[in-house]
Amino acid sequence: MRVLITGGAGYIGSHTVLHVLGAGHDVEVVDDLRNSTASIMPRLEDLSGRSIPLHVLDLCDRDATDRLITEGNFDAVIHFAGLKAVGESVAQPLDYYDNNLNSTISLLRAMGRHGVRHLVFSSSATVYGDTALPPFQEKLPTSATNPYGWTKVMIEQILRDVAVADPSWRIALLRYFNPVGAHESGQIGEDPQGTPNNLMPYLAQVAVGRRERLAVYGNDYPTVDGTGMRDYIHVMDLAAGHVAALQALGRLEESVHTWNLGTGKPTSVLQMVAAFSRAVGRDLPYEVVARRPGDIAESYADPHLANVELNWRARRSVDEMCADTWRWQSLNPDGYPDA
Ligand code: NAD
Ligand code: UFG
Repeated sequence: MRVLITGGAGYIGSHTVLHVLGAGHDVEVVDDLRNSTASIMPRLEDLSGRSIPLHVLDLCDRDATDRLITEGNFDAVIHFAGLKAVGESVAQPLDYYDNNLNSTISLLRAMGRHGVRHLVFSSSATVYGDTALPPFQEKLPTSATNPYGWTKVMIEQILRDVAVADPSWRIALLRYFNPVGAHESGQIGEDPQGTPNNLMPYLAQVAVGRRERLAVYGNDYPTVDGTGMRDYIHVMDLAAGHVAALQALGRLEESVHTWNLGTGKPTSVLQMVAAFSRAVGRDLPYEVVARRPGDIAESYADPHLANVELNWRARRSVDEMCADTWRWQSLNPDGYPDA
């Protein structure tokens, strides 16, 4: 297959580029580099031994997106591009609705016009909102607690509507739990700009000396040790899930499928601190502070559907997630060169 990967210079997209190439497909990347850097591309080419065209454009630009799809002769698209910071989405909701919805609509119009109807979309466990209790199953109703989450709920609905209007579409809605870790080479990984919002990159920056200590957001949740529990999934397992979904789209009868990509096993913040400390070889400093507004106590997947229908399973342990994150962070203490 010839596969277009939108947002392929970003964290999850870049790891997926390697997996899709490894499965024998051709890949092109489109990214406007608003949250990534072109300096990742030579690393991806070195790791894969393949040449990977990068198209630098904003997918909200309908003419440029149409030209890209016309000229690319793609069989399928994996759509990662979008803004993803929960707190920023609360402060700047219009930026989130504008970018995430318009880039997707522009892409879908171009795909529809040129007969490219296989799409894998990056959704999120955030669509389970804060009402149901885990393990989350795909059939639960969706909702959100912030504008970022609503963009995922809305895009899922747009995609279902598009497939009703034209059932020849084949669409995978992949709901990721908490992606962490890095490629085992240590050459690519997560490189957030500014202060990290998420646990794992924050811990990695504490370990490498860029931050003093981790703030643990609350230890009075009804969990094993009082801290929040999440379903952390190694980004390379997540990447493999995209290849499995891409291949499944060719053989499945129904137009739209929704799959959770998670391990099904939750880990607490303090368990993660302990695991990361093991990877680094010394105790990492932390202090318990107040809960972060909007956080839920516990989130984890029921991954059964993806295990059975995609013949896919997350295999890597929390210790591997920490070891690989640490290799990436210690080899690249300041992230990518010109990020
Ligand atoms: P990322 O920011 O590293 O990657 C997204 C990429 O999209 C960036 O390289 C950015 O420059 C690009 N982009 C954004 N808007 C664009 C536009 N209009 N045109 C072209 N390129 C554009 O984020 P990530 O962590 O790799 O996440 C990828 C996808 O997975 C996102 O849709 C995100 O919402 C979703 N997701 C991420 C997580 C997570 O914890 N990382 C969890 C659930 C879902
Ligand atoms: N945490 C801390 N200190 C920190 C950062 C996080 O204690 O500095 C705690 C949180 O309170 C939570 C856990 O670590 O208990 C995980 O927090 P993250 O911010 O790493 O992840 P979230 O589960 O809050 O959010 C992530 C993505 C969202 C996505 C959501 C559901 O960042 O985009 O998973 O998929 F919506």
